[in-house]
Amino acid sequence: MRSLLFVPADSERKIEKAMTCNADVVILDLEDSVALQNKPAARALAAQTLQRPRSGPQVYVRVNALDSGLTSDDVAAVLPAGPEGIIQPKTETGACVDKLAGMVGTDMPVIAIATETANAMFGLGTYTQVTANLKGIAWGAEDLSNELGAQANRTAGGSLTEPYRLARSLCLFGARAAGVEPVDTVYVDFRNQAGLEHDCMDAVRDGFTCKMAIHPAQVDTINRIFTPSAQQVAEARSIIDAFAGAGDAGVVGIDGKMYDIPHLNRSRKLLHRAKAYGVT
Ligand code: COA
Ligand code: MG
Repeated sequence: MRSLLFVPADSERKIEKAMTCNADVVILDLEDSVALQNKPAARALAAQTLQRPRSGPQVYVRVNALDSGLTSDDVAAVLPAGPEGIIQPKTETGACVDKLAGMVGTDMPVIAIATETANAMFGLGTYTQVTANLKGIAWGAEDLSNELGAQANRTAGGSLTEPYRLARSLCLFGARAAGVEPVDTVYVDFRNQAGLEHDCMDAVRDGFTCKMAIHPAQVDTINRIFTPSAQQVAEARSIIDAFAGAGDAGVVGIDGKMYDIPHLNRSRKLLHRAKAYGVT
């Protein structure tokens, strides 16, 4: 999983487009991109989309938050249609995920968007205790900035401001501590490819494994940057080879740089990931 494309579930036209793009996951959104009066129509269209014979992207559904009073109707409409997973917005602790699992079943993969309220920021260490099938933790900056009363979440130069860098970091720590995928947030400036690339490279560098998208034009960029490059694969191989060549050494030097066990493990993980995406 590298790219997850959001589609408002009340838009037939966008759903058509999304289902034929290269996203690894399409997220049929029942939450923030759908107006209240359109929720029933969106639920029906989401169920219909899931039931069609389909190949290509996996399909997840973003349900409304637990305190909205809408979640059980969302679940009742889409669960029988067989989504591959659920996106749960506005979680505050791991217990919120287990509560949703009470409705969707403990086997259903769930990705929690876990930084959307001020209180959620204090709960990112609790996802280690989830007993349900938590698949990933994502962070979000839009609802959080609304809740904080912020005027913006990026500087004029495009960098995230401090509160959102913190949310991003805590998401990464929380996800890795829980042993699940850290999912980078959306890049809302959808005409700005250079900005998106920068955001993606930043995320990959820090350890995120995938990123959410809001526009089909973002998908190929995300897939490319979240797939290990041939150069990274070659580098990983040379590190693994150097360790093999040095017997059971705990540390090696290559071209004047030190590599020890964490580097070896990182290289193995990168090769594993590269293999999953067909890079040789
Ligand atoms: N999924 C599938 N198709 C999409 C899409 C998406 N997320 N976003 C845009 N498209 C389609 C448009 O329908 C349009 O198709 P058409 O040429 O057949 O009409 C085409 O891509 C080009 O769209 P464009 O004109 O560049 O953008 P727009 O002004 O129509 O839409 C947004 C802009 C932001 C409204 C739209 O991208 C969107 O709805 N994104 C998802 C929002 C969302 O789900 N938010 C919640 C999570 S944060
Ligand atoms: Mg939102």
